[in-house]
Amino acid sequence: MSISQFRTSDEPASAPVPVTFQTIQEKKQTGRPITALTAYDYATARLVDEAGIDLILVGDSLAMVVMGYDNTLPVTVDEMLHHTRAVRRAVRRAIVAADMPWGSYHLSLDNAVANAVRFVKEAGAQAVKIEGGASRAELVERLTSAEIPVIGHLGLTPQSVHRMGGYKVQGKSAAAINELLHDAHALESAGAVMLVLEGMPREVAARITAEVGIPTIGIGAGPDCDGQILVFHDLVNLTFSQPAKFVRQYGDAAALFRNAVEGYRRDVEERAFPADSESYHLPKDVAAALETPVLRQKA
Ligand code: KIV
Repeated sequence: MSISQFRTSDEPASAPVPVTFQTIQEKKQTGRPITALTAYDYATARLVDEAGIDLILVGDSLAMVVMGYDNTLPVTVDEMLHHTRAVRRAVRRAIVAADMPWGSYHLSLDNAVANAVRFVKEAGAQAVKIEGGASRAELVERLTSAEIPVIGHLGLTPQSVHRMGGYKVQGKSAAAINELLHDAHALESAGAVMLVLEGMPREVAARITAEVGIPTIGIGAGPDCDGQILVFHDLVNLTFSQPAKFVRQYGDAAALFRNAVEGYRRDVEERAFPADSESYHLPKDVAAALETPVLRQKA
C-alpha cells in the first residue's frame, strides 16, 4: 500500500454546476469561446475538470500518446471504455465525450449503435464522436434518436490516415471546401450537437463556423472556431515528438517528470531516500524490547 492511500479525500465541499450541451450552445450564440481538451485517465481528467475546461474528450489519440502506437487505428472499443470509465470517475463539471474507435461504427448501423450504447451505459460518456461527413449522416440520425449526442469530426480525420496518404491539411481546393461545407450541413441536419474541425485552413473553418448553427471546435483550424481543443499530451510536452504547427505547449511535463525520476533514482542510490522522518517507528517500549537478548533469540 502506498502513502497516497493513507490520505483522506480532498474533494471540494460544493459540487460545481455541470456543463451541458445547452450551455455549450449558448456559448456559441453569445460568442464566448468553448474550451476542450483530451484526457485519458483519472488524474489528468481531474486536473482538466478542476481547471474549468468545458468538454473533455477521451480521444482515440490515446492509441498514440498513451499506448505508443503509430496511429489511432489499433485501439479497441474495450480499451476506449476502460479509459472513459477512469475519466468519468474524475469529472464533476465538464461534459465527457468518448471517441468511437476505427472499426466500431463502420460495419453496420446496428453494430455502431450497439457500440455507442456501450460508451454511455458502461462508461458514462455523455456523447460520442465519430469521424466523417455526409456518409455518416444516417448514423448520426440513428444515434440521436437513441438519445446519444453525437460530435462530428471533419477535415483531417486521423482514422483516414491511409486514405489521406498521411496527416495532411484538408480543404485546400474549391472542390474540397464545397465538400466540407456540404458535410458540415449534413451532420448538422442529422442532429450532430457539435463539430470538431481538424487540420484545415483558417478561412475554411471560419466559413463552416459561420454557416452552421452548432458549435465548432477547432484543432489546427485557426482561431475563428467557436472553441478549441488540444491533445493533453501536446499541451504539456509528453509526446516525445516534434509538435505540430498548431500546438502551443503550456508546460513541460517531460522535464518535470524526468527531473523527479532522476532525483529519486539518485537519492535511492545514495541512500538519501527514505530519510528517518519518512519512516515509521516502533513505540519506545517495543523498540526497547526489540533490543533485549530474549526477543533477539526468538526472532
Ligand atoms: O482523438 C483525439 O484526440 C481527437 C482530437 C484531436 C479532436 O480526435
